[in-house]
Amino acid sequence: MLARFIRQRRDEQQAVPMAVAAVASRGSTAALSSLVLLVLVLVLVLASSALPASLAVTSPYVRPPARATLPLLLQDDDDADGQTPQQVHISMVGPDKVRVSWITDDDAPATVDYGTSSGEYPFSATGNTTTYSYVLYHSGNIHDAVVGPLQPSTTYYYRCSGAATTTPSSSRELSFRTPPSTLPFRFVVVGDLGQTGWTASTLKHVAAADYDMLLLPGDLSYADLVQSRWDSFGRLVAPLASARPWMVTQGNHEVEKLPLLEPKPFKAYNARWRMPYDVSVSPGAGAGAVPSGDNLYYSFDVAGGAVHVVMLGSYTDYGAGSAQLRWLRADLAALDRRRGGRRPAFVLALVHAPWYNSNEAHQGEGDAMRDAMEVLLYGARVDAVFAGHVHAYERFKRVYAGKEDPCAPVYVTIGDGGNREGLADKYIDPQPAISVFREASFGHGRLEVVNATHALWTWHRNDDDEPVVADQVWINSLAANPACNRSKKKM
Ligand SMILES: [Fe+2]
Repeated sequence: MLARFIRQRRDEQQAVPMAVAAVASRGSTAALSSLVLLVLVLVLVLASSALPASLAVTSPYVRPPARATLPLLLQDDDDADGQTPQQVHISMVGPDKVRVSWITDDDAPATVDYGTSSGEYPFSATGNTTTYSYVLYHSGNIHDAVVGPLQPSTTYYYRCSGAATTTPSSSRELSFRTPPSTLPFRFVVVGDLGQTGWTASTLKHVAAADYDMLLLPGDLSYADLVQSRWDSFGRLVAPLASARPWMVTQGNHEVEKLPLLEPKPFKAYNARWRMPYDVSVSPGAGAGAVPSGDNLYYSFDVAGGAVHVVMLGSYTDYGAGSAQLRWLRADLAALDRRRGGRRPAFVLALVHAPWYNSNEAHQGEGDAMRDAMEVLLYGARVDAVFAGHVHAYERFKRVYAGKEDPCAPVYVTIGDGGNREGLADKYIDPQPAISVFREASFGHGRLEVVNATHALWTWHRNDDDEPVVADQVWINSLAANPACNRSKKKM
């Protein structure tokens, strides 16, 4: 691709002098007017070559080949009693509690013992256990327990199903760090993760980041009906997901409906990745969110209410009259009722199918959802919308109704976590004016909300096995922009 790009540039540069020579040989009035035209063309060519690269870039990066799906991560060798906690992951529940989720092969109590010193667990919480069946597959015991209230920015040591342990290995200790209660706040954003060699590369780079919370805009395991792949995915991500909150929403690969056999969608996803959809925290109490009543969409606050995150469901009803649309309207309206009029400095939204996309893959698949919800996000002055689904990276300008708008969200497609389907490397040509940067490579993004007015977005390409910052932009808070004062705009 790089060679083709260089060749195209060379051809463009050679074309003009060759045409000038052809016109000069005619020596007529017509030739003179043609010459004037050519001078204009020459000026345009030179001007276009002088444009800053950030205006519209289709990256010429030549990427390494795809990598195979990792072998199944089978049960740990030390699980002699079937009670070893596995696939541990955590998520935030309100401003100061954490849900710990884990699986044991056999019966074990849904208890989490925890404290701030290694090996000492003065606190304990007991939660719930569930299981599910999918055709011939029967899950292990899926436990979850909510611990807290916890201190912010604090490392907690914990042990799952500890009371039932009979061997030292199954009482193994884990730790997580709670997010800060004030800015700055550091997110990692990674979509369409899967479980391939590139997933491992992405996770390695994420692990090297000092971040507070991971956001995943759908398509987690790529189990695609093979339920044991949900287990292997859980084991693959557990070292990271047990240490920082992972807040996820669903993609098309989570649906897993099978005609007649499994008519209920999201069976494995809902059982394994329970999110805080039912948490009621009064706005202004440090973290506000309107409970959605459905695990497929929800919202939460971080950094003491400075950032509000809306997780939307692209594969459940979102149209007029839907429960999701009603909830979204109520959740965004509640931002204006914060105590003392303190709206969050930043509002973020995550969807799976992108609403703006100049990749040839999945064209138009997010349009209906955009038609139903874009006006609400725009009216609420959402700062950025992150999507997955398209296996590539793309960043747009601030866009509303297809046009650049200074009070609209920045749109980012970050569906390049490392899935087994490979990259989407065919783009619509020419690059639309609203698309700033696009590249089909695996990687992850980071959003550091530095203060109440500025957030830094960076995209980290998996360049071979090294993380490379290939795109970055400062995002200014719309809440801090007087020109985007909501009272002056129609919703
Ligand atoms: Fe997808």
